[in-house]
Parts: sequence; C-alpha cells; structure tokens
Amino acid sequence: MLTTPLLLLCVATCLSPTASVTDRSKANLQPQVKLRTWEQAIAMAKSFIGQLTLQEKCHLTAGVSGTCAGNIASLPRVNFSGFCLLDTPSGVGDGVLYSTAFVSGIHIAGTWDRDLFYRRAVAIGKEFRGKGVHYALGPMVNIDRNARHGRNWEGFGSDPYLSGENAFFYTQGVQDQGVVTTAKHYICNEQDTHRSGVMKGANDAVVYSANLDDKTMHEIYLWPFASSVVAGAGSIMCSANEINDTRACQNNQTQNGLLKGELGYMGNILTDWMGSKSTVDPVLSGLDIDMPGNDGYMGDTLVAFVQNGSIPESRIDDMATRIIAPYYLVGQDQDYPTLDLDRDAMENNYLVNREASRAGMILLKNVNNILPLNSSINTNIYIYGQAAGQTNCGLEQTSWNANCGGALYQGGGSGFVRPAYALDPLTALMQKGRDDRLQIRYIANQNDFISINRTFSDRGFQNAKCLVFISAWSEEGIDRTDLYAFANGEQLVLTVAQNCRQTIVLVNSVSQLNLERWVDHPNVVGVLWTGMPGSEYGPALVDILFEGVFLDYRHFDKYNITPRYYFGYGLSYTSFSFGKLEISQANDDDKNSPASLYKQRRMRPYNNFSDSGLYDPVYTIKCTVKNTGNYYGSEVAQLYLGFPVQAQEPPKILRGFERVYLEPNESREVALVLTRKDVSYWNVVNQQCATVVEVQDADVGVDQFDPENDDRNAMELIKNGSGPSVMVVYYPNNSGQQSA
Ligand SMILES: *[C@@H]1O[C@H](CO)[C@@H](O)[C@H](O)[C@H]1NC(C)=O
Ligand SMILES: *[C@@H]1O[C@H](CO)[C@@H](O)[C@H](O)[C@H]1NC(C)=O
Ligand SMILES: *[C@@H]1O[C@H](CO)[C@@H](O)[C@H](O)[C@H]1NC(C)=O
Ligand SMILES: *[C@@H]1O[C@H](CO)[C@@H](O)[C@H](O)[C@H]1NC(C)=O
Ligand SMILES: *[C@@H]1O[C@H](CO)[C@@H](O)[C@H](O)[C@H]1NC(C)=O
Ligand SMILES: *[C@@H]1O[C@H](CO)[C@@H](O)[C@H](O)[C@H]1NC(C)=O
Ligand SMILES: *[C@@H]1O[C@H](CO)[C@@H](O)[C@H](O)[C@H]1NC(C)=O
Ligand SMILES: *[C@@H]1O[C@H](CO)[C@@H](O)[C@H](O)[C@H]1NC(C)=O
Ligand SMILES: *[C@@H]1O[C@H](CO)[C@@H](O)[C@H](O)[C@H]1NC(C)=O
Ligand SMILES: *[C@@H]1O[C@H](CO)[C@@H](O)[C@H](O)[C@H]1NC(C)=O
Repeated sequence: MLTTPLLLLCVATCLSPTASVTDRSKANLQPQVKLRTWEQAIAMAKSFIGQLTLQEKCHLTAGVSGTCAGNIASLPRVNFSGFCLLDTPSGVGDGVLYSTAFVSGIHIAGTWDRDLFYRRAVAIGKEFRGKGVHYALGPMVNIDRNARHGRNWEGFGSDPYLSGENAFFYTQGVQDQGVVTTAKHYICNEQDTHRSGVMKGANDAVVYSANLDDKTMHEIYLWPFASSVVAGAGSIMCSANEINDTRACQNNQTQNGLLKGELGYMGNILTDWMGSKSTVDPVLSGLDIDMPGNDGYMGDTLVAFVQNGSIPESRIDDMATRIIAPYYLVGQDQDYPTLDLDRDAMENNYLVNREASRAGMILLKNVNNILPLNSSINTNIYIYGQAAGQTNCGLEQTSWNANCGGALYQGGGSGFVRPAYALDPLTALMQKGRDDRLQIRYIANQNDFISINRTFSDRGFQNAKCLVFISAWSEEGIDRTDLYAFANGEQLVLTVAQNCRQTIVLVNSVSQLNLERWVDHPNVVGVLWTGMPGSEYGPALVDILFEGVFLDYRHFDKYNITPRYYFGYGLSYTSFSFGKLEISQANDDDKNSPASLYKQRRMRPYNNFSDSGLYDPVYTIKCTVKNTGNYYGSEVAQLYLGFPVQAQEPPKILRGFERVYLEPNESREVALVLTRKDVSYWNVVNQQCATVVEVQDADVGVDQFDPENDDRNAMELIKNGSGPSVMVVYYPNNSGQQSA
C-alpha cells in the first residue's frame, strides 16, 4: 500500500439558478413497497424455477412479441404473467400516452443535487409502475468522452464519479417504486455511429471495438456500472459494440469476469436490441436474455443445446434465477399494477420536473447582473429563434429536424419520451407577459432576416431586452457531425447582437456546443444553458429569467488547457464564501455522524455492497459555505483529489460534491464523505484497487482555513508530510476560468 500524500482539492464554483419559487419538498427517502434482500429474492426465485420444465426455463431467456419494447413470456401453467420492458431512462417512452418527459440524464447531472437525482427517479419509477411496466430501460451510464456522441444527452456526462452518483440514486429511486432498472450500455458504448456495424456482406456486420487497458476500464467506464450494482440494480444491458475485438454480449471478461465476478452482480444481463449474434458463446459468457428475441438464438432454441451437452443445464438454471430474482427483489409479486401502457400515472410529477429543469440550467455569462430580469423595469422584450416556440411537426421524436424547428425537451431515439404535453418558452413568456404587463414581440423564423432586421427599427427597441433561442439536436444511432447550433443559430445570435445592446442567449442543447463564434460579442450580455429540460421547459425558464432564483477537466488539466467553461462551472445571482475546512477519519459509530448518515442514506435491502470494504467511509471532509449576497441561491461544494505520482492519475479527480441552498447571510456546514474506493486507484500489477492513503494514518486532519483572513482569489493550504495534502480553491467572484 502506498502512503504518499494525497491531494484534496475542494472547489466551490458551480452555481446555478434555483428558485425559492416552490417549496423544496424534502426527499422522501423511504421505499414505497416491501423490498427484499438478494438472498431472499434468490431463494424465492430458485423455489419458483424448481417447478419449471427445462423448456419453460429456456423460454424465459428470450423476448417474445408483445405490447412492450421487450416482453418476457408468461407461463400460465405456473401463473406467471411475464414481464414488460420499456424505454426510456428519463420517463416512460416508446410512444405511450400520458407520459412526462423528464429532464434528460445530462440535465439532472448538471444539478449536482442528490436529492433531486433521487426525487426525479422516484417520479419516473412511479410512472413506470403506474402503467404496470416491470423494467425501465435505464439509466444510461456511458461516459460522455466524445462530444458528438448522439446519446450523450441520455447519460450523466463526462465524469465517472458524477455518473456513478447519478446511477446510484437513479437505481434507488426507481427500484424503490418496485420497478427494475437496467443500467446500459455495458460496456464502452461511447459512440453510436457504426455501433451496429458496417455491412461487409449480407450477414457480416463489422462493429467497432473499444480496445482498452484495465486501469481505464476500472476507473472510467466500469465505475458507474459498479455504482449501479452496489445500488442493487436488477438488470444490466450489454451493448452492440465489441471490447478488445469481442462482442460485448459474448464477452466473457466483461460479463463473467468484471460484472458477475469482480463486482458480484446478482441480476441478469440482457442484450441491447439485436446486440447478440449467436447462441453458445453469449450464453457461456454470461448473457441471460436475448432481446427483442425473435432471432432464434436463445429461448426455446436452448433446449437442444442442453440436450446435446453444448450448454449445461446448471447454466440455464442460473439464467432463469437471475431473470426471476429481481421480480421478488423489488416486490413485484405484491399488488403490482396490471399492464396498461396508457394509464395516466403522471400525478403531480410536473413539480419535481420543473424543479429539476430549473436546477439543471446553467448561467454562463451575466454582465452587470443583467439577469434576473425585473419585470417592473424590463418590460419590453424581443424573442428570436425557432427554438423559442413549439415545433411545426408535433411532439414526435422524428420531427425535430431543422425545418420543423421548436424547443427541444429531449433528444432522439429510443430515449425519447413523447410527452403528454410540453411547455415551450414562448408560451410561458407570453403568459408571464399577460400577468406582469410585459410588451413582447417575437420572430420565430430565424431564416427570415428581412423580418428580423425590421424589428431593429421598431418603436422602443432601443431599450428592449433581446432573448435569442438556439438549439442543437442529436439522436441514437448516429453521432453529430459538428458542434454548432441548428439552422444557423450562430448567425441569428450575431445579427441580433449587432443591433441589440442587451442580448441574452438561451442555449437548448443535447450536449456540448461551440459558442466561440459569438460568446465574446460585447452585446451578448447574458448566456443561459438550458440543456435538455423536459416538458416543463417554459415555466422553468421563466422562473430563472425573472424570479431571481439563482442561481460544469481531466484532459484540460493534463495538457494545461484552460477551457471556456471548466467542468463544474456555473454562475449565480448571489455570492458565497467558503471556509473552515476540516478533515478527519470517518467515524460511523455515531449515528448522526456524516459517515453514518452517508451509509444510512444509501442503505436498501436490495443493495449489493461488496464485502471488500471498498464502499466503507474512510474520511470526512467538512467545510462551511455562506451566502454573502443578497439573493437566495445555491452553491455546489466540489471535492477533488490529487493522487500521488505512482497512481498515474490526472491532476485532479472529482470525488465528492454537495449542493446547498442558502438564504442571504445563511451559512451551513457541508460534510463530504470519502469511501475507500474514492481514495483508491486500479493497480494493474496486482489487479486490485490500491488504497493510496493509510486509513490508520494519525496525521490526517484538522487543517483549518479561514477565507475571511485571506484575500487571495485562489487560496491554497497544503500540508506536507505523511498525511494527505489539502487544497482549497475558492473563487469568490465567479470570474476565474480555472481548469478545475
Ligand atoms: C395467479 O396470480 C393472480 C395475480 O397475480 C392471483 O390473483 C391468483 O390468486 C393466482 N392464482 C394462483 C392459482 O396462484
Ligand atoms: C483488453 O486488452 C488489454 C490489452 O491486452 C488487457 O490488458 C485488458 O485486460 C483487456 N480487457 C478486457 C476486458 O478484455
Ligand atoms: C470466463 O470468465 C470466468 C470468470 O472470470 C473464468 O473463470 C472462466 O475461465 C472464463 N471462461 C473462459 C472460457 O475464458
Ligand atoms: C454482492 O457482491 C458480493 C461480491 O462482491 C457477493 O459475494 C455477494 O454475495 C453479493 N450479494 C449481496 C447480497 O451482497
Ligand atoms: C447442439 O444442438 C444445436 C441445436 O440443434 C446445434 O446447432 C449444435 O450444432 C449442436 N452441437 C453439438 C456439439 O452437437
Ligand atoms: C424591481 O424594480 C422595482 C422598480 O424599480 C423595484 O422597486 C424592485 O425592488 C425591483 N425588484 C427587485 C427584486 O430588485
Ligand atoms: C440584416 O442586417 C444585417 C446587419 O445587421 C445585414 O448584415 C444583413 O444583410 C441584413 N439582412 C437582410 C436580409 O436584410
Ligand atoms: C447580512 O448581514 C450583514 C451583517 O450582519 C447585514 O448588514 C446585512 O443586512 C445582512 N443581509 C441580509 C440580506 O440580511
Ligand atoms: C511541500 O513539500 C515540497 C517538497 O518538499 C515543497 O516543494 C513544497 O513547497 C511544499 N509545499 C508547501 C506548501 O509547503
Ligand atoms: C474577480 O477577481 C479577479 C481576480 O482577482 C479580478 O481580476 C476581478 O476584477 C474580480 N471581479 C470582480 C467583479 O470583482
């Protein structure tokens, strides 16, 4: 074990608008159904499959045709009514009626708020349960390593730790409602172009292969899947690509080795749709279910393979057990609703959706506090851009091409939720205008520069605020070809900015967008990243724009690049101070200690924490955050670790965060907990997680730090010696462009 210093870096920089507009209901942290442990669920599953014939067991291992995207057949003889599997990660998809389009994965990750991760997942889980759906085909936990990946919007961004925390609380929130989660796409599915292959002959598609080393696998791509397993996920979807030149769904190293072996995963592995291409290799490599199942590779076909000895019956029993156990695990045997895909179970989920929509929007530029707008003074408003209003082609995923226009609530593909309704910004601003007596004009056709130009000589235009809406779309199956806005959005921004001194740009984008062509224009005084904000986009945006709610490294660090907006960046309408840093060994004897609360918050009967102690808390880091401004607002304390050189890590790695909501002058202590895994790295020599800090190290802790007595903008306190080194970076005026 290494005892070289560990560098802790605690950054307080990410501030995004959050309103005091609605009461923040405290997360209900209790499951709503009777849940079981894996041991109990497996025992019940074994008892159930004990009654089954070989044929019946095999029958469970492939999907059949039916009303859902994936259907596990019923077995009437034993009164088993089968399972329904449905998309998406962010709401009930596949075109059902009465469904909420929730903020997408990338948007919820941008809130940095675990309570919201959980409460959004609870609402999603309730809609699946309410319709009688057994499996939600999410979360999507692939890493945003490629800005153009068509599915980035479904996932939780570029950081494994942030993705892992999202995966954990998504799994918990949804499974607490009795719905099985399916973490996907296992593994290394970070691009969509060529994911299903380039045809070389009729049945000979060559898919791309992700070839990578163990360290990268463990520390980046496997991390959020591990978090899903620990959280107790009942199902995991293998991907269509190859890893080291072997298909994911027949990859013994990744399925039997990493997932079922090293991580101790007890649930089933099902294919991405048409992701498997044979019988024996996939089954012996750990695949349990073939979806959608009409290819004849598994299911009834397996009987003959067992009879001639190609596949042992014990493996079929294992598959059947893994297929049935999650059903008992999350209590689907107890009063589970019958299947009715069009049942309305939306309840008041719009409230949490609106809160998440707001909280995930990120303020990137705010010159002279142009935002929030004061509706008593800023009464004259001009709105430009097709992305402000509804699409011309209906709320269909296929409709969002540049010609259809319209605000984007989510991206496209199987992850798209066709919402029961969706509120666009233009509608919400018009309503605000009626209520607050605003003067509003708009031009939605962003190619009509004659009309656009004409507005610049309107009466009263000189004092107007100009809101310019731009968007960028992507979808499953194909990656983006560039990182620019739809329909010449850049030209629209520049044209308006040339003429309007108070131009505010609203960026409604699936993932990364290149803003460089216009962001430094002196008349662009405000930029708000509205992300993939779900059905409540319009109202959430109005909350941010007017109501004073207030409110994103590794590669950049290594190559010493200063990005335009560093990971974790986001401005606030208020300001914060940050201090009293304290480090101590974790103590979970006291039930109210941060370490103990950390564990309690994660505990469920269906968890599968490994026995290795990797998830035990080892350190507690406390600091105090104070709202020093005049507005209610929120701040995210972010904890970064710098590892010793032996670990061969980038300079800083995210290992903790907590979002706090504070009234003016209010301060609160934030406690961040580090687990053994958090302070470890993958040791390629002994193939284990090496812990870089000795927990027994008596020299740890009690470094205090008071920003009020130190006027440096970035303050550092480094304690040399055998204990961990500690660094606090503090940017009181949000002006720093740090590569943190
Ligand atoms: C079959 O299942 C239904 C619904 O789950 C239940 O109401 C019924 O009692 C069961 N019948 C038998 C014979 O177990
Ligand atoms: C992939 O190949 C690399 C290089 O041979 C090896 O180190 C790694 O363990 C392999 N990973 C998997 C999952 O097969
Ligand atoms: C498959 O992986 C398991 C677990 O790592 C290993 O025990 C087994 O030998 C592997 N089988 C093959 C055929 O490589
Ligand atoms: C969880 O994972 C471990 C392997 O890490 C395994 O030994 C254990 O049986 C699993 N089950 C439970 C209920 O934790
Ligand atoms: C076993 O049976 C299957 C299905 O009929 C067949 O495809 C396969 O070639 C057989 N394998 C052996 C080793 O006989
Ligand atoms: C908005 O402007 C009015 C009129 O100047 C002023 O009275 C009010 O305090 C302002 N509201 C806020 C929140 O600053
Ligand atoms: C609109 O005005 C811009 C300058 O603001 C000018 O460059 C452009 O040619 C005008 N377009 C039309 C169609 O008049
Ligand atoms: C915050 O506290 C300072 C000093 O006590 C006081 O002057 C100021 O009015 C307070 N601000 C608010 C918004 O309460
Ligand atoms: C910590 O120790 C290193 C090497 O001994 C030295 O270069 C560095 O300046 C020290 N840092 C502080 C803050 O004392
Ligand atoms: C913020 O801090 C930077 C660095 O000290 C300084 O250059 C800048 O003027 C400050 N901005 C404001 C608005 O105080």
